[in-house]
Amino acid sequence: MSSRSTKKKPTKKVAATKKPAATKAAKRAVTTSENHAKPKLYASLVVQLLSLLKGEHDLVANAANFSALLFNSLPNVNWAGFYFLQDDELVLGPFQGNPACVRIPMGKGVCGMAAQQCETIIVPNVHEFPGHIACDVASNSEIVVPLFDGERLLGVLDLDSPEIGRFDDQDAEGLNELVTVFVAHEEGIGP
Ligand code: SME
Repeated sequence: MSSRSTKKKPTKKVAATKKPAATKAAKRAVTTSENHAKPKLYASLVVQLLSLLKGEHDLVANAANFSALLFNSLPNVNWAGFYFLQDDELVLGPFQGNPACVRIPMGKGVCGMAAQQCETIIVPNVHEFPGHIACDVASNSEIVVPLFDGERLLGVLDLDSPEIGRFDDQDAEGLNELVTVFVAHEEGIGP
């Protein structure tokens, strides 16, 4: 498996929702340890993912376990799973959460846009994202991370949350690291 794509662009954050201004006390409450919580969690997920992948190269089995790991380890996530690129459209892969739409054309919804633009997209409020495809009425925010084998787009990892503004740059960084580990492990992924 080749290294990461050079095609990949920085994370895009769209349709930002204004949060109520935090009080000084609330700002102080965001301690250093809280700032380190997500990177620490993602570092532990990398270790757990590597352990789940060890000795196994079946794409469906590994993607299923990867989605279960994310769904059960990340707080406030109601959907976690994959769409894989097949003949210019995204087709539902292994996931955890409610049943979801099976096919997403390139450029459509958050998944199709992330795939088309080859970049991670964070949507703080899906109700403000034009063209958002609603699979679960409980979802309020979303992050979509494209998967690459070198320059080749393989599909996307999609996570939904009932919490507005659930995903940030630390999630984007952590999830990108996880998908890099995943893709590097899988040989001969896709067509
Ligand atoms: N909301 C996505 C569709 C997939 S579901 O969230 C599982 C989108 O707009 O592409």
